[in-house]
Amino acid sequence: MPAVVIVGAQWGDEGKGKATDLLGSRVDYVVKFNGGNNAGHTVVIGDEKYALHLLPSGILTPGCIPVIGNGVVVDIGVLFEEIDGLEARGVDTSQLKVSASAHVIPEYNKVLDKVTERFLGSRKIGTTGRGIGPTYADKMNRQGIRVQDIFDEKILTQKVEGALELKNQILTKVYNRRAVTVEEVVEDLRSYADRLAPYVADTTLLLDSAIVDGKIVLLEAGQATMLDVDHGTYPFVTSSSATSGGAATGSGIAPTRIERVIGIVKAYTTRVGEGPFPTELFDESGEFLREQGAEFGTTTGRPRRCGWYDAVIARYAARINGVTDFVLTKLDVLTGLETIPVCVAYDVDGVRHEEMPVNQTDFHHAVPVYEELPGWSEDISGARSFEDLPPTAQAYVRRVEELSGARMSVIGVGPGRDQAIVCHDLI
Ligand code: IMP
Repeated sequence: MPAVVIVGAQWGDEGKGKATDLLGSRVDYVVKFNGGNNAGHTVVIGDEKYALHLLPSGILTPGCIPVIGNGVVVDIGVLFEEIDGLEARGVDTSQLKVSASAHVIPEYNKVLDKVTERFLGSRKIGTTGRGIGPTYADKMNRQGIRVQDIFDEKILTQKVEGALELKNQILTKVYNRRAVTVEEVVEDLRSYADRLAPYVADTTLLLDSAIVDGKIVLLEAGQATMLDVDHGTYPFVTSSSATSGGAATGSGIAPTRIERVIGIVKAYTTRVGEGPFPTELFDESGEFLREQGAEFGTTTGRPRRCGWYDAVIARYAARINGVTDFVLTKLDVLTGLETIPVCVAYDVDGVRHEEMPVNQTDFHHAVPVYEELPGWSEDISGARSFEDLPPTAQAYVRRVEELSGARMSVIGVGPGRDQAIVCHDLI
């Protein structure tokens, strides 16, 4: 099984880090292929809790080579903060590879991200403010700065000059901010050159050679299907391809190499930032999910919006990504509820929709059609086989599986590394 993709099937924070980590020891390479430090993985190993934003979670697995692919946007300052933080805790990060073609996030794009959001007011996206959108926009606009540019002062200066011609107009004339000098940007990026150099590689070649050698390569998406720039709830999305198609372009691995696509789906739904969310709860049930599930952002600390499981979205994610296996996370969070509503379809202005409406307005009007499933009160955090689950929890899993378009191969019952029920091996 040469290449396996892991994607979020909802709006992010489904627990991808845990799933990646679960596979860790069997995987030779873990590749981050999209996004940047807007992501947030929390991985718990023993008593240690690691919050990673930019580095692939495979960095915590000895023997596994973590790769930052060409599709990622890299804040180099954050990269070294994370490396230093891990090294201080005894984690070896020397195997990390960073694509020479990944784009870097210059300081001015972080400023632009934040001031644009302020400028948008009520139309804001609710971004993480990390400069992600402006950096991807620069990439598509052919005004981006790539990792390889840092090592050539002349090229870097030319590129920064080109970018600042426009950026400074926007900063000063639209947003009333100070202009940025070419020297300060070049100096900042060049200051990382020596330290960055040993990590930089032609990662597409490296990964292809690994596959040819029979190694297992895991491609780990940042964000999630509903935040994908093409297939998510545009414009309330991130600026990259967070679906399995993006795994190929963002890593340089050919699509024909990908044999399995694992969708991570939480037993309920959460979202951060703005945008439509049909099953969102505004009552004590939402509060229950937020408290029980500790639903506060890893990256921003923001309380996450919470709602019931939405099978329409899961089915959509299964289709768009070609999900072969789902990992259902945080089932334990639902413990204690008398009944658990599951959204099976939408009512859009009186019309029943079994599938994701293609039209944004329809999705904004979508009212969930719920099926009520019986809950359970037993502690399930120690369950290690499907049969260990109370009958109503088993029935909940079976019903969401039936509705979601792919088998539930792993069920998460707690934050720990071993707190999972494996029904089907993922690789
Ligand atoms: P950006 O990625 O910072 O541009 O933000 C765009 C949208 O994606 C906002 O709604 C963010 O809250 C959301 N977002 C970005 N990264 C994540 C993530 O890792 N988990 C959940 N939401 C995210």
